[in-house]
Amino acid sequence: MTGTFAVKLEEKRYLPDPRFKATAWTPDYTRAYQEFMRDPDAFWDRIARELVWFGPWDRVREWNHPYAKWFVNGKMNITYNCLDRHVTSERKDKPALVWRGEGGEERRLTYDGLYREVMRFANGLKSLGVGKGDRVCIYMPLVPEQVVAMLACARIGAVHSVVFGGFGAGALAMRINDAEAKVLITADVGYRRGKAVPLREIAKEALTHTPCVEKVVVLRRGTPAVDLDPAREVDYADLCREADPDCPAETMDAEDPLFILYTSGSTGAPKGIVHSCGGYAVGTYYTARHDFDIKEADIFWCTADPGWITGHSYVVYGPLMVGTTVVIAEGTPDYPDPGVYWHLVQDLGVTIFYTAPTAIRMFMRYGDEWPAKYDLSTLRVLGSVGEPLNPEAFEWYYHHIGGGRCPVVDTWWQTETGMHIITTMIGEAMKPGFAGKPIPGAVVDVVDRQGNPVPPGTGGFLVIREPWPAMLRTVYRNDERYRTYWETIPGCYTAGDLAVKDKEGYIMILGRADDLIIVAGHNIGTAEVESALVSHDAVAEAAVIGKPDPLKGNVIKAFVTLRVGVSPGDGLSAELARHVRKSLGPVAVPAEIEYVDRLPKTRSGKIMRRVLKARELGIDPGDISTLEE
Ligand code: WTA
Repeated sequence: MTGTFAVKLEEKRYLPDPRFKATAWTPDYTRAYQEFMRDPDAFWDRIARELVWFGPWDRVREWNHPYAKWFVNGKMNITYNCLDRHVTSERKDKPALVWRGEGGEERRLTYDGLYREVMRFANGLKSLGVGKGDRVCIYMPLVPEQVVAMLACARIGAVHSVVFGGFGAGALAMRINDAEAKVLITADVGYRRGKAVPLREIAKEALTHTPCVEKVVVLRRGTPAVDLDPAREVDYADLCREADPDCPAETMDAEDPLFILYTSGSTGAPKGIVHSCGGYAVGTYYTARHDFDIKEADIFWCTADPGWITGHSYVVYGPLMVGTTVVIAEGTPDYPDPGVYWHLVQDLGVTIFYTAPTAIRMFMRYGDEWPAKYDLSTLRVLGSVGEPLNPEAFEWYYHHIGGGRCPVVDTWWQTETGMHIITTMIGEAMKPGFAGKPIPGAVVDVVDRQGNPVPPGTGGFLVIREPWPAMLRTVYRNDERYRTYWETIPGCYTAGDLAVKDKEGYIMILGRADDLIIVAGHNIGTAEVESALVSHDAVAEAAVIGKPDPLKGNVIKAFVTLRVGVSPGDGLSAELARHVRKSLGPVAVPAEIEYVDRLPKTRSGKIMRRVLKARELGIDPGDISTLEE
């Protein structure tokens, strides 16, 4: 079996106004791609020189399959490029961050303001004993301090591990322990749909299982301020107030780790994806600038939380290196009403808007009248990320949000890739349903199990053939897992996605090839949900599959066998849902739980999820075996 299959492709296309091409940072995709292919090192060398380095690199790239080094021996600090170099330019007083709260409250930080906050907090972290190489866990709501905390770590060379504020205590504890974080930065509360999410309480519960944490920094937002435990907790504001205002950026080697970010694995525990300073900076700077075509006057809004890779690369590092104004907003896209996003676009004059298909489909469902109420004429570029942007959602986004004027950049990439890999560059013809072509800088293919390219119209595995600057360097404390990315299909990086190319080389992403489930754009490992279910007293065994859903892309369906003497019922399903929520957080809660007497297994006892999935979807399990590894 080769793992390939036939796919019927649509041919519709949209051509953007030629003015986009004329003024884009990459005005001619084909030429840029050829230039890259002719001499990849020269291509990246040229881009890297647009950043400020403390010391030059000896070689652009050193590739020792499966290990890459980029900008070898180069010295730099990513925050110098996000902050210092702007505050000595005309951007000094330009807004860097514009934050909106759920109630419409606003906070603005100029580049100079952000720079000062970062330096103070960086010194605050130093006073807690945090130094270069130490791991710091950040578990915060989407407030400016979340961004400040990340930058402060990077400034002093500490390795941040941001955990999304929607995760539960179990997921947080696991990530803290795996990274052996010395300090945790959190807040008393986050706000969601008008309610306070008690982050500090959740963190406290996690901290009963995390002996490595020495100090906890708490941002106190609520009134009256919560009391802190003087033995372990430190107030965020006090820490900054008492800190020295100047904190020069630590000199980092290009290959020093910048951060760890956990992503779901298809088996077992989440993987701590490790990114390094130099290559990540170059890759995210270049893609932020070129793929969104950010210009000096743009107002850039990526709706992701910095707790995900999209937030790391395209809320924080990429856009700040480019020196744009970044909008961030706490809350959800339909609270207090489904017009909040469009209201914000109108109010702030957002020009570039980057969101997820699941949000677009939700807006579609609420109806065209919501965006129609607002003036969206400032928008000039729309982006999408996280899961396939289906043609219907593309059309709606293009017409109802973009007014038929704005190029849509559907960006395919991963926590592991750190930066965009596939998209349709601004100005090129867009094909609904297709993400596009590899960006100049990436070598991508669709192949069979042996790594042979498959013809157009034939589905196969999406791979990246050559290393790229922002690629993951390893999986934290699990280098073997890292190697499997490069060893599953000979000679290439296996993304784990299925894809198909058309005759012009446009790539359509078809979904995951493994046990990861992309729910509302967030990848969830079946194994993690299953083990959360099994940790409940009533459950003997559990198997989890992704079930297609018109809104969320997929939802989680769990098949559960119960312990002897336990009988199922609605009460139990609600209880199991609560149990998973508490441990992993709301994103991982099964939408459906079905109680079964037995789970289908291989002779060696491995649960055959694909059989359950085939049954659920009413298709032949044989069809699925070609789709899943
Ligand atoms: C999926 C998010 C289709 C894909 C940046 C990938 C996409 C996984 C797209 C990575 C897209 C991301 N079209 N699928 N434009 N972007 N994906 O690590 O399955 O959270 O492997 O990174 O999301 O998810 P992650």
